[in-house]
Amino acid sequence: MSTTTTTTITSLPAPAPSPTPNTTTKGQNRMLLDGQPTNYGDFRDDLNRDGYAVIKGAIPLDRAKSYADAFYTYMEDFKLGYTRTNPQTVRRGQLPVMNEKGMILDYGVTHEQWVWDIRGEEGVVDAFARVYDDEDLIVSFDVVNVGFANREDMPENKPWPHQDQDPSKPGFRCLQGLINLNPNGPHDGGLIVCKGGHALSSQFHHEMAHEERIPAWTPEWYGYTSAGMDWLASHGLKWEKVCAGPGDLIVWDSRTPHYNVAPTGEVDRLAVYACFMPVREVGRGELVRKRDAYERRLGTTHWPNAKHVSKSNIAMRDGKPCPVARERPVEEPVLSERVFRLTGIPYLEEMERGKEV
Ligand SMILES: [Fe+2]
Repeated sequence: MSTTTTTTITSLPAPAPSPTPNTTTKGQNRMLLDGQPTNYGDFRDDLNRDGYAVIKGAIPLDRAKSYADAFYTYMEDFKLGYTRTNPQTVRRGQLPVMNEKGMILDYGVTHEQWVWDIRGEEGVVDAFARVYDDEDLIVSFDVVNVGFANREDMPENKPWPHQDQDPSKPGFRCLQGLINLNPNGPHDGGLIVCKGGHALSSQFHHEMAHEERIPAWTPEWYGYTSAGMDWLASHGLKWEKVCAGPGDLIVWDSRTPHYNVAPTGEVDRLAVYACFMPVREVGRGELVRKRDAYERRLGTTHWPNAKHVSKSNIAMRDGKPCPVARERPVEEPVLSERVFRLTGIPYLEEMERGKEV
């Protein structure tokens, strides 16, 4: 059992395999993400070729709608003045603190029950298990994103095309994902991707190694300059807005250039980020760091191996702690055994008892 006292284990909908992975066969058919045609017969063919894919109905529509409702309720319950029925309340002062890209980073939101329910959905976990050919996965403690249709009071969201992978570490390393909760068409904001860019990533960084780097807080982020954008275009790559319905999962290779845009239509964009990685690719020290992040209800960005852990959940508003700042989620997560494994803690505990993972 976990040493985490606030986590309650409930019954499972399906039998749970042992936390100990079978290392003899797992991952043998892990996707290559090499841009070549494949014959899986599902979203993986799109993903391998294009560097991104949409998994339709990863979450059933009724539950996707209830999660969208939970998202709106969460923002209303800060009681700062925002209400979903009044577009005039889409004001910075009436909402929890978020950045210009729509990300709510603080307040322990990543560990809210509704966020855990979304990232623990069977159809979401299963998509990543297929990509990695491995069911023993851990999940990022990443943030949520709201792109309001009515955002006159929000700072401009300028394009920031980037890849989320250190160019000095080529090859497929990380599959990112987001679960879309509202209808998301061409004018509803959201993810923009450079189709097929994953497969040319190594060539790009080889040929553009002379290009000055846009400053970044982590070497795992690479921003495309105008010359870099020209290179992508001159190699025939095109940018596409990814459209999705409620409950659809969008996945993309971290090497695929991408960014997000604000809605220009009438519908808010609601998304929860979730990224999974096989636990067997993660070291013990990383799992220790991840356990600490879980117990303190901190975020890990999109990296499931807790490469980065936020220092605090306290939101800063105009240079001071937000009056409704909080260190822990409003609703502490209660996880099933299957979902709790995604924290990595059961695997770590097995390691600590001397088993190999
Ligand atoms: Fe990104």
